[in-house]
Amino acid sequence: MRAFEKPKKWWQALALLSVLWLPLRLCSPCASAARSGLHTRDRALQQQFTVVPEPVKLPWTPLFTDEEIWRGMLYGSGLRLQRVAQKLIANETIKVVFLGGSITNSADLERLGLSFSARFENFIRTAFPNRGHVFVDQGVPKSNSGWFASCVDTLVGDNADLVFVEFAVNDQRDAAETSIQRRSYEFMLRSVLRVASQPAVILLNHYSWFLSKGDGRREGLFFSGPESTFNDLAQYYDVTAMSMRAAAWRLMDENIDGFRVDKQTRGASGKSTKDYLYFDLVHPSPTGHQLLAELACAPIIRAVWEAASTLVITRRTDRRLADLPPPMIPTLRAAATPFCAIQQDFKRAVVGAAGFTYSADDPQAPTFKTQYWGYAATAEGSILSLNISTASGIAGDTRPAQVFILHQKALNLGTGSVSCVSGCSCQPAQLDSALRANYYVANVVELKATQSTSCRIRILVTSIGKKVKVTGVTVNF
Ligand SMILES: *[C@@H]1O[C@H](CO)[C@@H](O)[C@H](O)[C@H]1NC(C)=O
Ligand SMILES: *[C@@H]1O[C@H](CO)[C@@H](O)[C@H](O)[C@H]1NC(C)=O
Repeated sequence: MRAFEKPKKWWQALALLSVLWLPLRLCSPCASAARSGLHTRDRALQQQFTVVPEPVKLPWTPLFTDEEIWRGMLYGSGLRLQRVAQKLIANETIKVVFLGGSITNSADLERLGLSFSARFENFIRTAFPNRGHVFVDQGVPKSNSGWFASCVDTLVGDNADLVFVEFAVNDQRDAAETSIQRRSYEFMLRSVLRVASQPAVILLNHYSWFLSKGDGRREGLFFSGPESTFNDLAQYYDVTAMSMRAAAWRLMDENIDGFRVDKQTRGASGKSTKDYLYFDLVHPSPTGHQLLAELACAPIIRAVWEAASTLVITRRTDRRLADLPPPMIPTLRAAATPFCAIQQDFKRAVVGAAGFTYSADDPQAPTFKTQYWGYAATAEGSILSLNISTASGIAGDTRPAQVFILHQKALNLGTGSVSCVSGCSCQPAQLDSALRANYYVANVVELKATQSTSCRIRILVTSIGKKVKVTGVTVNF
């Protein structure tokens, strides 16, 4: 062996690491074999060689220590992440899709490069420069996994290599493990795993300190919310879950700078706002977004580190294990045919639009999503008629379907009523678009409808305000 030079590049360092160190550290069953296989002279070199190779670095100074990040990580076997890592190392392009609510959407912070998704993009582009990488943000404020569940094909599209899923603060907090809320999350996860390009999945679980109460605690109850079920699903499907609460709970509880929860930064000013994790009751401040970004990057850093090593993960191949397992929640109707008509697709569900016109709020915006297309009414009495399928397609299944009518909610918008008029039946529901705050969110009207391949739904505008705008319809089971 030649004398070593100090490695100049991280991948040279990784190569050295893989020869000398990783097999011993990461592969415990083969550690003793490797140890006995090493010649005495090599062992001496290994001891003498003190440059500790560096994993890929973040393009900012991290707030989390490695220890905290690792506390927050349920990595799993990393099978699909390995493929992402190998592409990155080979300078191939990757496509990343973000599914989630307003934290994923974070339009204002995104423009400044301060949202977790913008920071993640910055990390990939800095560490693995290639102009061809694609990042698609499908975050929708106030959405939940319920109506995303049917729309994975539309939202993820082709060729995704990596999909982030961020619904831990959007999905109903206190739903039972077998409820439609948790079942739809599992349905969504199964749909992402079934996408033809076999993307790696990272559940990015944010935590709302202030809404987590119970058992005598007025805030900061660790086990509150849907995350425990998400962790069960992560283990069941062998996907990676990253947890804000697992990484940062103790730091929040002790009000350590950067993680402080004794104040929210909304409306606050001054330098010290960077010490606080939350903007409001739920949303992270720019500091909180940086922490989420560090959680988002960590599995990639680990996967690249492993991929560049000689680590070989033994895997069982058995055709009985090739497909997805049965649903974790046994009452989930996994074989159901979901119905999704959102974004460009919404038109196909509309069979009548008296007083409604198909229009965009901001036709100049760069993406279809941010142009906000939909059917807008400007007069009371306008009627939008939808024809959808609420049939699960499963023989003998007669349980009702869950229908989600998507509409905008904003300052001074109007109201309507929603009813099933033929083919199916449902309890009529109110559509209320009025929001007290001056911004737009997506909202849904939920209906439980009987099954029908031709279920006609009528939306009647009862008070107009500035307008009523309907943007999509989805069905799940
Ligand atoms: C990576 O690929 C891109 C385009 O495919 C190319 O422009 C760039 O030079 C490559 N970088 C390296 C380090 O090979
Ligand atoms: C309603 O949709 C179903 C498919 O779900 C289709 O077969 C039927 O022709 C549609 N009816 C109308 C009036 O568009």
